[in-house]
This record gives sequence, structure tokens and C-alpha cells, in this order.
Amino acid sequence: MTVLVTGATGNTGRRVVAELHRRGERVRALTRNPAGARLPAGVEVVEGTHTAPETLTEALEGVTRLHITATAGLADVGTELVNRAVDAGVRRMTMVWGGYVGPTEQAMAESGVEWTRLEPQEFMSNTLTWIDAIRSDGVVREPYDFPSALVHEADIAAVAVTALLEDGHSGQAYDLTGPEVLTPRQRVAVLAKTLGRDITFAELPHEAAIDRLMATGVSREDAEYVIGWYADPPAEASTVVGTVEKVTGRPARTFAQWVTEHADRF
Ligand SMILES: NC(=O)c1ccc[n+]([C@@H]2O[C@H](COP(=O)([O-])OP(=O)(O)OC[C@H]3O[C@@H](n4cnc5c(N)ncnc54)[C@H](OP(=O)(O)O)[C@@H]3O)[C@@H](O)[C@H]2O)c1
Repeated sequence: MTVLVTGATGNTGRRVVAELHRRGERVRALTRNPAGARLPAGVEVVEGTHTAPETLTEALEGVTRLHITATAGLADVGTELVNRAVDAGVRRMTMVWGGYVGPTEQAMAESGVEWTRLEPQEFMSNTLTWIDAIRSDGVVREPYDFPSALVHEADIAAVAVTALLEDGHSGQAYDLTGPEVLTPRQRVAVLAKTLGRDITFAELPHEAAIDRLMATGVSREDAEYVIGWYADPPAEASTVVGTVEKVTGRPARTFAQWVTEHADRF
């Protein structure tokens, strides 16, 4: 059995690849830049992108299971990606959603093969965007101090791998959260305590937050969606659910654990 992982160098995909490989599965990792992929030795790395499904004939050869990562540019071609995968012999798919049920998520649910949709609300890895601020003046600026049950990306990956390899998860949409609710100000306090540094939180105006995100290459539409979500997050974002433990048999990782694992980055 070969598993094709899209988004394989990203926050979640990288961990999906590593965990499948650790469990002895044959993994094919898709990336636009194989030279920079830095994936475990023994993983087959192929050049390509899931946002150009017409180019994936070779990448899909012999593949029976597929992990899809939502990214910019996928919604327009997601239905084609799903159809090509099914035609190529894929019989089970998992997908980290793009935050809502869009065309790709819908196509997967209607594909006729086994599927599991992973619905994380907010990743702990979003905290990596604070690195520069923490290293420069120690002030983290965010537009809203909203409560969020952030989930560790390793837990998203662990659920994906379980659903890819084990039976009983087909047709499921899994809401994924961490074990506790924290606001950005409270996350800053955890960082300050764990790193032993003086780090503070300050509020940033809504428009300035949109401009800051667009300066990183995000489209205005996507930036407005993200900051709008922070302004008015859905109830699910601050509701702890036990899905990670129920599916994987391991408790969801805490934010303090995430900070300890990433301390050297700050
Ligand atoms: N962050 C959150 O709080 C959150 C919450 C809910 C849902 N999500 C969704 O979860 C998805 C997965 O997140 P992630 O952090 O694991 O992904 P990621 O690290 O942002 O991206 C995964 C990989 O996809 C490829 N990629 C990125 N942009 C692309 C583009 N425009 N076209 C083609 N390939 C592209 C890149 O790989 P290569 O460069 O190697 O090709 C990248 O390493 C997000 O895209 C988002 O839709 C995120």
C-alpha cells in the first residue's frame, strides 16, 4: 500500500509523513521543492503540487490512500484532484479542511470511497508567527484576545494517520481541539513562563492586522477571512472536545508542551 501525502512539508503534512514512515508504511511525499523538503530518509519525495491535479498521473501511480492538505489554490481544482485520485485507484482519503466545507471537502465526501475530514479550528503552530516580535521587542501584537482551544499539529497528524491506517473512521468529520482554552494573552503568559523571558501582549487594530497578514503574501480575501474569524470565532473554536484522545488513544498535547518542543525557535 502506498500513501500519497500532499502538503507534505507543512506543519501537519510533515508529521503525517513522519508518522506513516515510522509505522512502516510506504509513503510518497508531494512537494514543489524536493531539494528543500528535509523529510526522513526512506520517504519517497516527488515533485509536484496538488493544486495542479492534471500533473499528478505519475505521483498517483499505485497509490491507494491519499492525504489532502487544504491550501490556497486548492478550492478551484479540488474536485478534479479527488476525481483523478479515485480514477487512479485511491480507496481512502483524509483531508485537513480549509476551515469550512468547500468544494474539495464536498467532492471527497461524495467520492464514493472511504473518507475522513479533519476539522481543526486553530493550530498551535500559528504561534510561530510571533517569533520575530518575541525576538525583537518582546511584545506580541494581535487584534483580538479571544478564547481558543488550540490543537497541536502533531495531534492533527496522529488523527489523520489513524484514519488512514485503521478502520472505523469512514464518513466522519472530526472536530479537533487541544485540551484547554487559552486567549492570546494567556498563551503569551505560557511562553514567558516556559521560556523565562519578559514577553507581553498588546492589541492591534483590525485593519492593521489585515495589512500585516497581506504583507506576508496572503490575499486580501484570505486575510479578511482570518482576521474576521479572530473577531468573531465560532463557538467550536473555544469548545474543548475529546476527539484526539478518542481516535488516537492518547490525550491531546498541551500548549505548554508545544512551547517546550519549540523553545529554540523563539
Ligand atoms: N492554521 C490554522 O489555524 C488552521 C485552522 C484550520 C484549518 N487550517 C487549514 O489547514 C491547512 C493545513 O495547514 P498546514 O499548516 O499544515 O499547511 P502549511 O504548512 O501552510 O502548508 C502545507 C504545504 O502545502 C504547500 N503549499 C502551501 N501553499 C501552497 C499553494 N498556494 N499551492 C500549492 N502548495 C502549497 C507547501 O508545500 P511545498 O512548498 O513543499 O509544496 C506547504 O509546506 C491550511 O492550509 C489551512 O487551510 C489551518
